[in-house]
Amino acid sequence: MQAAHASEQAGPFGRAMLPHWRLDPQAVYLNHGTVGVTPRRVLEAQSRLRDEIEEHPSRFLLRELMSLDPTRLDQPARPSRIRRAAAQVASFVGARGDDLVFVDNASAGVNAVLRSLPLAAGDEILLLDHAYGAVARTAQYVARERGARVVTVTLPFPLHDEAEAIDRLAGAFSARTRIAVLDHVTSETALVLPIARMAALCRARGVPVLVDGAHAPGAIELDIPSLGVDWYVANLHKWAFAPRGCGVLWAAPERRAGLHPSVISWGLDIGWHQEFDWTGTRDPTPFLCAPDGIAFITEFLGAAAMRAHNHALARHAARTLGERWGRPWRTPDAMTGCMVTVPLPAALGTAVDDAQRLKGWLLDERGIEAAIHPRAGPHGDVLYARLSFQVYNDASDVERFAAAVDERVRIAGA
Ligand SMILES: Cc1ncc(COP(=O)(O)O)c(C=O)c1O
Repeated sequence: MQAAHASEQAGPFGRAMLPHWRLDPQAVYLNHGTVGVTPRRVLEAQSRLRDEIEEHPSRFLLRELMSLDPTRLDQPARPSRIRRAAAQVASFVGARGDDLVFVDNASAGVNAVLRSLPLAAGDEILLLDHAYGAVARTAQYVARERGARVVTVTLPFPLHDEAEAIDRLAGAFSARTRIAVLDHVTSETALVLPIARMAALCRARGVPVLVDGAHAPGAIELDIPSLGVDWYVANLHKWAFAPRGCGVLWAAPERRAGLHPSVISWGLDIGWHQEFDWTGTRDPTPFLCAPDGIAFITEFLGAAAMRAHNHALARHAARTLGERWGRPWRTPDAMTGCMVTVPLPAALGTAVDDAQRLKGWLLDERGIEAAIHPRAGPHGDVLYARLSFQVYNDASDVERFAAAVDERVRIAGA
């Protein structure tokens, strides 16, 4: 890990922070959540590490990253680089290094858990209708292969009360429910769900829980072991500033036997670290630089200050845009993190094509990057914008987005 920048303090948050990333300074980037944006200093650490690897690639990958000698896999002489990085990452999410493994991304983690599940014909996988599309497809695939089925729990949107989520979940269990897949922060709708309460409900029914926390580390305060879940999958390349291609899979001790990565390699049946730490030759720098992303938060930005800025800006955007377009914002604070999903004026259309046109126009004509999608809501089908807020954003970005949308409404009406 690169030395801490403890003596250095981040300046005031907002657009003045932009030089810490390679982002185009002219652009309004309101889409941090989608694929993350890696800070310059993390990219520099990654570049230094790549240089180090290239000085002696086989020594680095086969002996330092981890031991690939099959006779030593179960007893590495000293913690490998990947285990040391896992320990540093674990402390950021309240866990122990031994309790988590790196995966390339949240998709890989979800695949590992669902594809390792001993499902029989007629069994059920519970999934929220707010689940990320790729995760829903993985569940469908696994169910199809085993003759099982996916039961989708419909949550209202907007969601004004945690109890609504709990009640809907409570009504969805059956004697055949074998797992519940729950989002910690939903993707399109940007809701922070009451995961500990939902997990307690599942536990009371004897149903194990896989949490998709792709948007959680860095975005919300996170202490995985305290949530009472069985598996927790997360991305570090979104809100924890790791280089792209860095996820983690946490598993409760009793859930590790029989848990395999989707790519089987040398570590099969030796232990879950060995199985996940080596899934064939790949670039390990996203994993090994994850601690640099975390240090950027904890030692430079300040974790609490970062989250407070992002959350306050998200709330400000939701309230301002809600008032401007006549749809008051009522989502509780506890259900909001660093992103908000707000309805746009009806004049902008309702279809996928309308969403793509608007997204393209905002980006090409106004330099504004935001996620736009159609969704049915209490006001009928409208387009929604999911806006992500990071320390390089400020209220002027919200205003530029609002002004551009209003301009587009005028164009549509002309
Ligand atoms: C809730 C959620 N789950 C899973 C994923 C998949 O992440 P990845 O593409 O890094 O595997 C995403 C990506 O945006 C997501 O939002």
